[in-house]
Amino acid sequence: MISRSFLCDSLSSLQRFADQLASQPLIEEANIQLNGELGSGKSTFTRFLLQSLGVKGTIKSPTYAVMEEYLVHTPSKDIHIWHFDFYRFNDPSEWEDAGFRDVFLMRGLKISEWPEKAKGYLSQPDLWIDFQFIDSAQGEDLRNIQINALSKRGEALISG
Ligand SMILES: Nc1ncnc2c1ncn2[C@@H]1O[C@H](COP(=O)(O)OP(=O)(O)OP(=O)(O)O)[C@@H](O)[C@H]1O
Ligand SMILES: [Mg+2]
Repeated sequence: MISRSFLCDSLSSLQRFADQLASQPLIEEANIQLNGELGSGKSTFTRFLLQSLGVKGTIKSPTYAVMEEYLVHTPSKDIHIWHFDFYRFNDPSEWEDAGFRDVFLMRGLKISEWPEKAKGYLSQPDLWIDFQFIDSAQGEDLRNIQINALSKRGEALISG
């Protein structure tokens, strides 16, 4: 497993990280899980990443719907993206009924917040990103972001 981490002290630093990931062609097939406390920046990061990939308009947090789907048209190809927030996922039948199982078998980018709430359903991701608050005397919005690559694709994504 390859890991790297950085101190994120601003939204622009988070955006730079998202832009860098979005610039990798392999992102279009990646499975990414975001771990971290409430308000640690998972949805904010996802918004930056999706905007960087070309998603226009509002990017809603899928807390109630569990899943939001996007299709980005580019001159050369379409990018299919699914954003999950499993915070309120508590009905195992939903995995089959809402078609989540099928989504994870499709080509495209899948990003999941609160993956531990769907433990046992989700497979190992390419990237597992951990958002941790850091206490600082200055009261800044400081976070440590650790990126763990759990597959060859994940390793390529963070080495590129
Ligand atoms: N450096 C930073 N990185 C990320 N978020 C930041 C940063 N600085 C300030 N924020 C703010 O912190 C909040 C993070 O909220 P966000 O909804 O992204 O968290 P979340 O991890 O998705 O929470 P939840 O578990 O409720 O889904 C946003 O209001 C964002 O603007
Ligand atoms: Mg969120």
